[in-house]
Amino acid sequence: MKKSFIVIMLFLSALMAVGEDGYNCWLRYVPVENNNLLLSYKQAASEIQVNGTTATIMAARYELSLALKGLLGENIPLTKDIRKNGSILIGNAGFLGEGRKSLANDLQKAGAEGYLILTTSINQKKSILITANTDIGVLYGVFHFIRLLQTRQAIAALHIISAPRLKLRLLNHWDNLNRTVERGYAGFSIWNWHTLPGYVDQRYIDYARMNASTGINGTVLTNVNADATVLTKPYLEKVKALADAFRPYGVKVYLTARFSAPVELGGLKTADPLDPAVQQWWNNKVNEIYSLIPDFGGFLVKANSEGQPGPQNYGRSHADGANMLADAVASHKGIIMWRAFVYSNDLPDDRHKQAYNEFVPLDGKFRKNVMVQVKNGAIDFMPREPFHPLFGAMQKTPVMMEVQVTQEYLGQGTHLVYLSPLFKECLDSDTWSNGKGSTVAKIIDGSLDNHELNGLAGVANIGNDMNWTGHPFGQANWYALGRLSWDHTLSSGQIAEEWLRMTFSNDAAFINDVKIMMLSSREIMVKYMNPCGLHHIMATGHHYGPGPWVNNLARADWNPVYYHKADFAGIGFDRTPSGSNALGQYKAGAKKLWEDSSTCDERYLLWFHHVTWNHPMKSGRTLWNELCHQYNSGVDSVKWMRQVWNKHKTRVDAIRFRQVAMLLEIQEKEAAWWRNACLLYFQTFSKMTIPEKYEKPDQTLDYFKQLKFPFAPGN
Ligand code: GCU
Repeated sequence: MKKSFIVIMLFLSALMAVGEDGYNCWLRYVPVENNNLLLSYKQAASEIQVNGTTATIMAARYELSLALKGLLGENIPLTKDIRKNGSILIGNAGFLGEGRKSLANDLQKAGAEGYLILTTSINQKKSILITANTDIGVLYGVFHFIRLLQTRQAIAALHIISAPRLKLRLLNHWDNLNRTVERGYAGFSIWNWHTLPGYVDQRYIDYARMNASTGINGTVLTNVNADATVLTKPYLEKVKALADAFRPYGVKVYLTARFSAPVELGGLKTADPLDPAVQQWWNNKVNEIYSLIPDFGGFLVKANSEGQPGPQNYGRSHADGANMLADAVASHKGIIMWRAFVYSNDLPDDRHKQAYNEFVPLDGKFRKNVMVQVKNGAIDFMPREPFHPLFGAMQKTPVMMEVQVTQEYLGQGTHLVYLSPLFKECLDSDTWSNGKGSTVAKIIDGSLDNHELNGLAGVANIGNDMNWTGHPFGQANWYALGRLSWDHTLSSGQIAEEWLRMTFSNDAAFINDVKIMMLSSREIMVKYMNPCGLHHIMATGHHYGPGPWVNNLARADWNPVYYHKADFAGIGFDRTPSGSNALGQYKAGAKKLWEDSSTCDERYLLWFHHVTWNHPMKSGRTLWNELCHQYNSGVDSVKWMRQVWNKHKTRVDAIRFRQVAMLLEIQEKEAAWWRNACLLYFQTFSKMTIPEKYEKPDQTLDYFKQLKFPFAPGN
């Protein structure tokens, strides 16, 4: 063998030994490093009894054995009957016989998907019981138990009862049938439509495992900008193969329905929802789907929005469209998620107001199995938005929330931005719809208005990159979506800590520092992109980088200048009664936070007010100086993030350390790009200087304006 070849092989194997590719995400089952803890875990898990043989129970058994083998370093034997102290019994409570009675209260609390994890006595032996009313509850319980070990919790005396607060906990993939992903930054779609249904990639099963471990129980496979082809027979067979792969993990499949499918596929002359032939076409199509996939979840629909067809093409309302589809799926227990992301170029009104104006009059007109799916904010997944005014405004309709896990406007694939604080900010917002305390969380979990149907969906950030999400920290946002949809009362800090422990390390120094970095990262991004309530000032099409100067797009409300309204007098969108009065769509309690420019929560100042460049800010600075300050502090904070990460080089495996380090370097450059481009552009109106103490832009405004990214991803 050649010497150089041996050297390369040695180098490669050394690299592999110290690096991880990130494929396992947070389901990394690495050995417990603390000997005392290891011993106590071994004592508590000396054998496993599994009651039941369904695919879901087999999945639970597989996961528990895999995890224990990795964490404890040995194969834990299976037993038919517990004989030793320190055993684990997993199984549906149906198998517990008389023993079930003593657990009746706890089981009632666990409900249909929840579980119990109890330290108890079985056959007079001290054991851990993981049980539930359903098999899927058992699987969720097993994942919880594994998490306790992964995060090094004590397990000597357990009494855990957990049940999800939301029924629908969904990912929305914006994946196209040609495998491109709209707003995807992690490679191509993981759905390989060409090789389905014959080839069922292990990745599909690992995807389902990852989801089930967080509580996610459904996935919309296709882009909201839908292609009717997915409703044809060959594609439905592919969808069936995916549904079969996910079923043991409790992940239901949903599709996006292109409203014009009866015309495109069925050869009808119309897709009018009130036309009996159209209704019949959908009924037949739905029956065909359910004959292949008996537990098909239903449809997600984007209609009459951004060029998508819809009922308004035929003079019908959103309710007419949604109800027609709802009737088609009702007998199969399917649901329709009808998106409220609608705005029209023909209306000269503030885009902020349009969804509310369109949907509030329809409240009470939807069938029982329709949910209206509302983005967290009124415009479009901005770094910071006030909550959407539709939350709390449609009390007769179950309203579900949609957040963006993929980071279209939030740093895309190159910025470390932990999104749980953004999701929680919206969930915790008080709409005042039923008086004080009417939070968005209580609206979407159905508790405020008594809706059985309720849910949260996140636009997926998943692609076929080795580590699923491109940026290693993108995984944290997928994880956070699942955890918050299970329990929206969890804190962002708790979720970050769990994720860090499972994904990287249980080292206390590492966790303390990196958790603070994660928790600060969203605010940092707001500062270097959209401080003080600025929004929608990104570049055109791909949305990568700044473009506050853009003013030439076909629709007024696609142009950044429409949103910031900078002029020589000042900057910001007047949404008070003297302007568009979008504020009028909020209840008095919520409005109070924003209505007066001198008391407005400054994080939303330019969202609701047009103020002068000299507007006095709470910091004592003028608005212009505050913008300079925030943009610079955002960039400085990314420098700090790099220091934090670099400090922990020895605590992270080499491959993932380098990945994050390189991405943070890119993030710093891009943060400076945002700052320089935005300040130079706004300076053409303010005519004020950037205070001496700040770094000066290294390029001219013209330089930033001419940058082009023809192949930026996700477009
Ligand atoms: C954003 C995004 C589009 C997407 C749309 C939607 O505008 O840029 O790609 O289709 O949201 O949510 O429908």
